[in-house]
Amino acid sequence: MDSTEPIPAGLSPAVAAAETLVEVRRGQTLELTVSDLAYGGKALAKVDGFVLFVENALPGDRVLATVTRRRRQYAEARAVEILASTPFRVPAPCSHVPICGGCRFQDFDYSEQLRHKQRQVEACLAHLGGLPVAARSVLPAPKLFHYRNKMEYSFGRDERARLTLGLHRRGLYDRPFDLDRCHIATPVSSEIVAFVRDFAVREALPPYDLRNHTGLLRFLVVREGMRTGQVMVNIVASGTHPALDRLAVALRGAFPAVASVILNLTRRKAQVALGEEEHVLAGQPTILERLGGLTFEISSNSFFQTNTEQADRLLDSALEALALTGTERVLDVYAGTGTFTLPIATRSAEAIGIESSEIAVRDAERNAERNGIANARFWKGEAMEVLRDRFDSGPRDASSGRPEIHAVLVDPPRAGLHPGVVSRLIRLGAPRLVYISCNPGTLGRDLALLCESRFALEWIQPVDMFPHTPHIECVAALRAR
Ligand SMILES: C[S@@+](CC[C@H](N)C(=O)[O-])C[C@H]1O[C@@H](n2cnc3c(N)ncnc32)[C@H](O)[C@@H]1O
Repeated sequence: MDSTEPIPAGLSPAVAAAETLVEVRRGQTLELTVSDLAYGGKALAKVDGFVLFVENALPGDRVLATVTRRRRQYAEARAVEILASTPFRVPAPCSHVPICGGCRFQDFDYSEQLRHKQRQVEACLAHLGGLPVAARSVLPAPKLFHYRNKMEYSFGRDERARLTLGLHRRGLYDRPFDLDRCHIATPVSSEIVAFVRDFAVREALPPYDLRNHTGLLRFLVVREGMRTGQVMVNIVASGTHPALDRLAVALRGAFPAVASVILNLTRRKAQVALGEEEHVLAGQPTILERLGGLTFEISSNSFFQTNTEQADRLLDSALEALALTGTERVLDVYAGTGTFTLPIATRSAEAIGIESSEIAVRDAERNAERNGIANARFWKGEAMEVLRDRFDSGPRDASSGRPEIHAVLVDPPRAGLHPGVVSRLIRLGAPRLVYISCNPGTLGRDLALLCESRFALEWIQPVDMFPHTPHIECVAALRAR
């Protein structure tokens, strides 16, 4: 076996090591029984221990599938016929499901989605963290549809070179299809997509072309305060155009909920819906949302939890794990706009957020002020550098040489914690650590390091923030040994 070939996400080293006894070739059509969902949402079948990831199939299906790609340790296949369906297949309400890269599991019974997510979390902890523990039952989402408070739509062209605006086709990142109605976005979000598309076509505004880096319109990001009703429309473009001012006025006229229309200018080639320059085209520069009993101001480029209702559950689990009594000094690393820092501050002596985005820190400070919270502060910078600069000399206090920290919360991006951050968190000497993660793979890896030396895992609570997608969020409660 070629040890340099990467093991795909969801394939445990033990499975990957199984040598195939059968000949699996590209182009071949096989009858397969889909046995499982790998982490990342790919359906998985095995032939004599050899793993095939199967597109367009669900666990429990028996399918005819054509092999599309053959690697040394696994193959990829696409189901061309369902010979016998899983009893858990349900009708999907959305007509885009067969092609959309967003919802993979709208046609899979929700309780089965949750069962698989729980098992995947446990598998990641066992295989990548060496922690064979049972996770708590996944906290289900109360709303299975229209739950997202933010959607990113892409501009492109179809095969007849006409402007399209919508979501990506599964597996393709340069061919968005024209979206009619998205069932996980809010109804107004889909209506705004149709409005902006019609406007762009009427005004002959060109979509950005990824290959030769020409054109104007790149992304449309629609954000909605689910508990305030305020909507932000954010147009990400490669330049300005007088028609965009008219679009902003027209949007505010057609949709009274639109409180803010922003233009983000980007000259980067990378396909990310962020701008280097932000202009308010109409209305306010931010919108408001309520979470954890507080009011948050959100800018176009700041991170904010995408499912407001489930973010409250995430916060409840984090607070349970922190078990604050009101006297603690708490560190919130990767603090964003203060979603967790501020509710923590209302239950502790002091909360300190560390965050690298200047805009997010500015929003967080404004949010503290707006909510009358005086015992929260935010340190802008890279987590590793801030931890080094502020804490490397170890625990102090003894009234009060500072900076003794009683509890730490971390909520890093998908890549998880840099090993340098892990070792600094260990050296901080806090008795309690709470890890919020959107990636069970990197969570397993990081928990292995944290639990190797100082911490013990008390419990892990998966929270389903994104029904019908492979994503799963977890709160892990750790205590110093
Ligand atoms: C998953 S978000 C969590 C934000 C916040 N806890 C919340 O729930 O709204 C991760 C945050 O980490 C920030 N971030 C990313 N890399 C960072 C780094 N190296 N140091 C500090 N913050 C970072 C991002 O800007 C983002 O706001």
